Amino acid sequence: FTVDWDASAAVKDGFDSFMDKEIHDQPKAVADTLLGRTDATGALVLDELRIPESTLRSIDKIIVIACGTAAYSGHVAKYAIEHWCRIPVEVELAHEFRYRDPILTARTLVVAISQSGETMDTLMAVRHAREQGASVLAIVNTNGSTIPRESDAVLYTHAGPEVAVASTKAFLAQITACYLLGLYLAQLRGTKFADELREILHELQALPDKIQHVLDGEAAVREVAQAMKDEPSFLFLGRHVGYPVALEGALKLKEIAYIHAEGFAAGELKHGPIALVDEGQPVFVIAPSPRGRDQLHHKVVSNIQEVRARGARTLVIAEEGDEAVAPYADIVFRVPQTPTLLSPLVAVVPLQIFASELAKAKGLDVDQPRNLAKSVTVE
Ligand code: AGP
Repeated sequence: FTVDWDASAAVKDGFDSFMDKEIHDQPKAVADTLLGRTDATGALVLDELRIPESTLRSIDKIIVIACGTAAYSGHVAKYAIEHWCRIPVEVELAHEFRYRDPILTARTLVVAISQSGETMDTLMAVRHAREQGASVLAIVNTNGSTIPRESDAVLYTHAGPEVAVASTKAFLAQITACYLLGLYLAQLRGTKFADELREILHELQALPDKIQHVLDGEAAVREVAQAMKDEPSFLFLGRHVGYPVALEGALKLKEIAYIHAEGFAAGELKHGPIALVDEGQPVFVIAPSPRGRDQLHHKVVSNIQEVRARGARTLVIAEEGDEAVAPYADIVFRVPQTPTLLSPLVAVVPLQIFASELAKAKGLDVDQPRNLAKSVTVE
């Protein structure tokens, strides 16, 4: 798949960049990844999963291997799959996995997540896992690419070709595919969440419209990005599934705006990072839903208070109706109410828009950032 960058104007559908186009493709990318994978009764149907049901029932550990943004989708999957399936899920950077002599058995399911399906670090990790006797499932966006060909099975994401180096719609599609895998395993293994599956699937099918709702409010995000284009650094805080969203938000700014940005678990603040907070330091905070997990929500509100008390400028991603964050937030980007485990699909969107606009405001090439390739086919 090669990109003729010059003759691409028409393909951008009128957007300034492929990245902006792909950010707006996200409702469709999620909907297309869900399409055809439930039957008329609302049960999950993943016939394409070429791993015997007996093997899937015997799995006692899942290891996700991926790089960059794909690894962050695996981090989100960890929270969801562990909750629904009660199977331990480890998330490993593919380039670290192979060299740490991992413990793999025939009851280990290795899930290789990759947009391109050609990332050499991930491919080498797949080969290692198979040599050790583990079953390997690829979650890939590029049909017929090398990683699925060398895996036992593949669950394709249907995000369509992703041209911008900075991954956006593939990230949301990867998370969606991981949710489907987790719900399918829960359904197959009859966990206690089996009867809740339909409700969760119903919520998942409502996500494309919720993502579109966030996109409809993008002007406010772009305005803030333009005002902050000369900021030298940004911190990103999140807890639970908000933590990988914080990591992804920071990566977007690093790779396309060349700004130092760091994402970390909000609970880590007092273990060191809070020393980074001085007067005017911009800090994004991804606030979880206050509904159902108020403990988590309360702790994140405290974290916002902590950094604000030390002079930070707080930019908070919060649910519509969540007024608890307001007293400590300089800026609030609102997202629709969503079950916590599914919330990354809406919470990350303002961060993607912010990074794209800030890079544009700095006059940078949003689609082809310096030093980077769309697929890292060398180790
Ligand atoms: C994401 O914006 C980056 N381009 C990069 O981290 C990417 O996610 C990583 O290189 C993995 O690529 P893959 O999904 O094609 O394997």
